[in-house]
Amino acid sequence: MKIAMVGSGYVGLVSGACFADFGHDVVCIDKDQSKIDRLHAGIMPIYEPGLDALVESNVRAGRLSFTIDLGEGISGADAIFIAVGTPSRRGDGHADLTFVYEVAREVGEKLSGDAVVVTKSTVPVGTGDEVERIIKETGTPHKVAVVSNPEFLREGAAIGDFKRPDRIVIGAEDDFGREVMRQVYRPLFLNESPILFTSRRTSELIKYAANAFLATKITFINEMADLCEKVGANVQDVSRGIGMDKRIGSKFLHAGPGYGGSCFPKDTLALLKTAEDYDSPTRIVEAVVKVNDTRKRAMGRKVVDALGGTEAARGKRAALLGLTFKPNTDDMRDSPAIAVAQTLMDAGVAVTAYDPEGMEAAAPLLPDVTMCDSPYAAIDGADVVVIVTEWDAFRALDLKRVKQLLTQPVMVDLRNIYKPDDMRAAGFDYVSVGRA
Ligand code: UGA
Repeated sequence: MKIAMVGSGYVGLVSGACFADFGHDVVCIDKDQSKIDRLHAGIMPIYEPGLDALVESNVRAGRLSFTIDLGEGISGADAIFIAVGTPSRRGDGHADLTFVYEVAREVGEKLSGDAVVVTKSTVPVGTGDEVERIIKETGTPHKVAVVSNPEFLREGAAIGDFKRPDRIVIGAEDDFGREVMRQVYRPLFLNESPILFTSRRTSELIKYAANAFLATKITFINEMADLCEKVGANVQDVSRGIGMDKRIGSKFLHAGPGYGGSCFPKDTLALLKTAEDYDSPTRIVEAVVKVNDTRKRAMGRKVVDALGGTEAARGKRAALLGLTFKPNTDDMRDSPAIAVAQTLMDAGVAVTAYDPEGMEAAAPLLPDVTMCDSPYAAIDGADVVVIVTEWDAFRALDLKRVKQLLTQPVMVDLRNIYKPDDMRAAGFDYVSVGRA
C-alpha cells in the first residue's frame, strides 16, 4: 500500500513511521520546509521515545520519505491521511479546521488516481462531510472515499499505542473506504487488534467521547483526593479499591495537579461547543472543565500553605521539579506547571525549576522562572521542593542531599511518587495529594 501522511507533526510522524514499519510505502508531507529539512537530516521535531530510531530504520529501508510537495507526495497513494493540527480557535474554543479544509482542497485539486482520504486529526462531528464536499467541489474525476480514523496515541507512549492499540476505530460510508482501511491496518488485524467499523459521524464523536470520559475519570479522582485530605483517607487506596471493579477499571485514576496537554483541555472545550451548537448540553463535561481549571491554581496555593501561608511565603523560593504536562515529552501545552508557577509568583514566591526535556519550551511561557541544569541546582537554597511532573529521574532523588540543599526540609509531591512514611522517616515535612 502507498500511504501519504499530510502533516508531519506529532500524530502524522508517529503514524507515518509506524505504517512504514508495517511494510507500507509512506510519504510524510509538511509545508514547513525547515521541519522537512531537519527530518531529512534525521532530526525529530518532537521528543518521543523510540521515534528517531524508528524513522531512521524505515528511511534506510526506503519505506519512509519526506517532502513539502503535496502533489508529489500524494501521487499514486491508496490512502491519504490528514494529520494536521486543529488548535482551539481563538476566543470561542471551537476546533480550528482551517488547515484541514485547506488540505482537503489541495488534495482534491492534485489527486492523480482513486484514493481514500482519511481524517486522523481530531475533528468535530460533520467535518468528514465537509471534507467530502470540498473535494467534490474541486471537480476531481477520481473516486474518493472520505473516512474518519481517530488516533488514540498518548504522548510518550505513542509508538506502543500505535502498534498495540486497544482498538482501531474506522468511520466509513462505503465499501471502497472500508476495504482500503482494512488493507492499511492489515498487519494489526493479523495481531487481532479489534477494529470497529462504524459511520463517519459516530467515529468522529467516539474520539471526543473517549477523551472527555478519561478527563472525567481524572477529575473525579482529583475531587476524591480533596475529600480524602479532609476526612483522613488515602486516595491511592480509593483508586485501587474502586479500580479493581472491572466496570470501573484501574487506569486513569491517579490523583494529581489536574490534566493538561495538547488534547484533553482542547478536546473537552470543543465537545462543549458541539454540544452547545446542537443544543444538547453535556453538563458533566462542563463541570470537569471548570473543576480542572480551578485545580491547577489550587495546587499553587497548596505550596503556599506548605510554606506557612500567604504571609510566611512571601519572599521565599520554590524549586519545581518537572514542567511538562506529563513525563517523556517536551510538551508544555496547558501544563499544570504553568498555573502552579504563576500562582506562586503572584504570591511573591520566587521559582527555580528543572525539567529533563521541557525547559526550552517552558522558558518563553515562564520568563520569570529560573531554569536550572539539574534537580539539585534548582533545589539549592530553595525553601520547598515541589514534584510537578512524575519523571523517572525524580523517583529516587538523593534525599539526604535534597535536605541539605533546602533551607528547610519541605516537599510538596503533586504526583504522589514518594511514600508519606518514608518521607517522614527521612525527616521531611511532606505534603502530597489525597493522602493524610
Ligand atoms: C490523551 C489520550 O490519553 C490519548 O488516548 C489521546 O489519543 C490523546 O490524548 C489525543 O487526543 O491525542 P495525552 O494527552 O498524550 O493522551 O496524555 P495522557 O497520558 O492521556 O495524559 C493527559 C493528562 O492527564 C496529563 O496531564 C496527565 O498527567 C493527566 N493524568 C492522566 C492524570 O492526572 N491522572 C491519570 O490517571 C492519567
